[in-house]
Amino acid sequence: MKIGCIGAGPAGLYFAISMKLRDPSHEIEIFERNAPGVTFGWGVVFSDQTVENLSANDPKSAKIIADEFAHWDDIDVHIHGETITSSGHGFIGIGRKRLLEILQERARELGVVLYFEAECDPADPKWRDYDLVIASDGANSRFRDAYADAFGVDIDVRRNKFVWLGTSKVFDAFTFAFEKTEHGWIWAHAYRFAPDCSTFIVECDEDTWLSFGFDRMDQAEAIAACEHLFAKYLDGHKLMSNAAHLRGSAQWLNFRRIKCERWSTGNVILLGDAAHTAHFSIGSGTKLALEDAIKLAEVLTRKGLSLEAAMDEYVAERNLEVLKLQNSARNSTEWFETLDRYLHFEPLQFAYSLLTRSQRISHENLRLRDRQWLEGVERWFWKRATDGRSNKTAPPMFAPLKLREMQVENRITVSPMAMYSAVDGTPNDFHFVHYGERAMGGAGLVFTEMTCVSPEGRISPGCTGMWKDEHVAAWKRIVEFVHANSKAKICLQLGHSGGKGSTKLGWEGNDVPLDDGNWPVMSASNVPWSPANQTPRPMTRADMDEVRDQFVAAVRMGIECGFDMVELHAAHGYLLSSFLTPLQNRRTDEYGGSLENRLRYPLEVFTAMRAVWPGDRPMSVRISATDWAGDNGITPDDSVAIGEAFAQEGADLIDVSAGQTWADAQPTYGRMFQTPFSDKIRNEGRLATMAVGNIYEPDHANSILAAGRADLVALARPHLVDPFWTLRAAAQLDYRDVACPPQYLNGLSQLARNLKREAEANAAALRV
Ligand SMILES: Cc1cc2nc3c(=O)[nH]c(=O)nc-3n(C[C@H](O)[C@H](O)[C@H](O)COP(=O)(O)OP(=O)(O)OC[C@H]3O[C@@H](n4cnc5c(N)ncnc54)[C@H](O)[C@@H]3O)c2cc1C
Ligand SMILES: Cc1cc2nc3c(=O)[nH]c(=O)nc-3n(C[C@H](O)[C@H](O)[C@H](O)COP(=O)(O)O)c2cc1C
Repeated sequence: MKIGCIGAGPAGLYFAISMKLRDPSHEIEIFERNAPGVTFGWGVVFSDQTVENLSANDPKSAKIIADEFAHWDDIDVHIHGETITSSGHGFIGIGRKRLLEILQERARELGVVLYFEAECDPADPKWRDYDLVIASDGANSRFRDAYADAFGVDIDVRRNKFVWLGTSKVFDAFTFAFEKTEHGWIWAHAYRFAPDCSTFIVECDEDTWLSFGFDRMDQAEAIAACEHLFAKYLDGHKLMSNAAHLRGSAQWLNFRRIKCERWSTGNVILLGDAAHTAHFSIGSGTKLALEDAIKLAEVLTRKGLSLEAAMDEYVAERNLEVLKLQNSARNSTEWFETLDRYLHFEPLQFAYSLLTRSQRISHENLRLRDRQWLEGVERWFWKRATDGRSNKTAPPMFAPLKLREMQVENRITVSPMAMYSAVDGTPNDFHFVHYGERAMGGAGLVFTEMTCVSPEGRISPGCTGMWKDEHVAAWKRIVEFVHANSKAKICLQLGHSGGKGSTKLGWEGNDVPLDDGNWPVMSASNVPWSPANQTPRPMTRADMDEVRDQFVAAVRMGIECGFDMVELHAAHGYLLSSFLTPLQNRRTDEYGGSLENRLRYPLEVFTAMRAVWPGDRPMSVRISATDWAGDNGITPDDSVAIGEAFAQEGADLIDVSAGQTWADAQPTYGRMFQTPFSDKIRNEGRLATMAVGNIYEPDHANSILAAGRADLVALARPHLVDPFWTLRAAAQLDYRDVACPPQYLNGLSQLARNLKREAEANAAALRV
């Protein structure tokens, strides 16, 4: 085949090498707009896995690259005048210029023809003479932009400003240096990539950048300003730019996250940064470019594979990798964009939060990297959780939490889960066993399912209720069992189904109306959940009074039962949530329109409940922090305001759920997918929060807690089949102080022994 590659970056060069290695008969030319040796940027970092992939593909160039790698283990985080050092991170890096030289030489040796100072124009008819044109022309790809519709290009311009500089100062550790200035915070990411040179990326938000006047400075002035700002880290060394061709503030960039739905059109194929970018703070752009190149060469040269099939396989496999990385990169990008949230953290927790920002590195990963450091974090966490009384080095999930006068034994919660098994609202023996067993399973706090304040407020005929004496007696029996047989606290979740009521039992169909016996439903407005559901009656003021009083009556009954805590369910599109979300609330009175108005009725109900609930016992509110509807619905910023409004009325905890507020929502699922909302509400609103949503491993819980993303962690589905999730976690982490019913202690220690043996056997197998 006759192949033209646009751009002699890592992607184009490595594709040409990989293709020639597989079939030397291909005629491959690379066209690069710059002169040889002229490139932007300084060093790039790699992982061990990338090096393995390169070695398998081309041992010769891999060896030359690996021999020149700079290695370093430590990360230094400089913040508030302190330096937090953690070790065991195992980075490898190389200068970009040197990497390109190695690849150019190897490409030439294999017969690739390279043209420099050869600017390519996608409109040039000569490209029709090529079997394939590889658009490896980087993030600003002209070839991609020329066919933007065909590729389905999606570009997200991020808000921080950064500049990629170099310095002769050799940083022994990967260094993050955060500096507070009169213009705002500005920080550097610095790492060594050669014996005498380091990368030095400076980043800040746009306001700080403008306030410094970087937009008006020329290159020399900007560099001098950065040298001055970071003088104490540079030890007299200079900062340098190798983007001399870029004028003044043009050297400062906004990162552009690029993704494409399709990666080929006609004879043009996208490769590397032209197809996708990953934020520099997770350092994976070059890795992705090189791995794209290997995969593309492999599918194009596989016998019997048509070009179409080759493209399908290339895109399917590489896109999956890219999406995974872009997910982590988004978390990392956002961490730096929302730095303000974390600046009040103590330096140790700030560093922990920074290290775990992409959610790729977890608590246990950190233990493997630097046990001593991690144990220091655990000790710090326990000390704070106990007002300095405990010196324990133990996983954060087992640390206590005090809300008002209620002391929760540990940070794991059984999330509210409707069981659809009550008759006329009365919990029965199923509920007695269900809640009793989960309390004995070790969680610090057990929530009841949404317990409804009236028969019409039920979701289904099987929902539990709190409107008559039978309910009080049945719940009291459960609460007393929990208190007598476990250390768990028990929280009563109270709710009203609103327009989502009068539906079948969960397992018969979610939100599906009953076949017969439907009762009329009401909501903030007459917006039905779906065309199949009833159109609710908009609540009148008299309805509001009645429902508010029902909530208050239910709270009084909750006191009689002995509950430790009460939660108001204002999430998931049920009655109170229908007021909060603009997608359901179409009212034109003082309960609709602005967020302040939409909050009015839910706050009224909450305040009335708080007035009768004992002052020494806590209350929480469950909210949907987003409608997953962009700016048309509740946004994460709104959710901070909602959390603050409830806190002002006496809420001690915001239980941060998301979605289920309109039928067409498009949630972005994934591990711990709702935790970022909890992080935002906790650290922007300075409120105690509980995170929930696809959290299923002890490692998730510990990472969330230690990073200050939540104060409690709720698990729903994991507790359905494993009431003893917390005891199992304690056995797995070899934590012996967990509250375990004495009857079960032998089982716990046997499980701990077996899990330890299994872990040792797995570790030994890995060593072989
Ligand atoms: C600040 C910063 C730090 C980074 N740090 C890292 C890191 O630590 N690790 C990492 O892996 N990645 C890092 N990256 C990302 C990395 O630089 C890119 O992902 C990588 O270079 C992509 O390789 P590529 O070959 O696809 O594109 P590029 O390296 O951008 O190469 C494209 C080439 O095409 C040429 N070109 C463009 N248009 C034309 C044209 N019309 N005609 C001819 N030639 C053309 C360009 O001159 C360039 O040489 C970082 C990026 C930035 C901005
Ligand atoms: C069977 C089931 C019933 C649920 N019922 C309720 C409920 O009554 N009240 C509530 O606020 N959330 C309810 N939820 C949502 C959970 O509390 C939780 O937010 C959600 O399942 C995500 O957590 P997970 O990924 O750990 O399952 C329910 C979830 C499940 C699986």
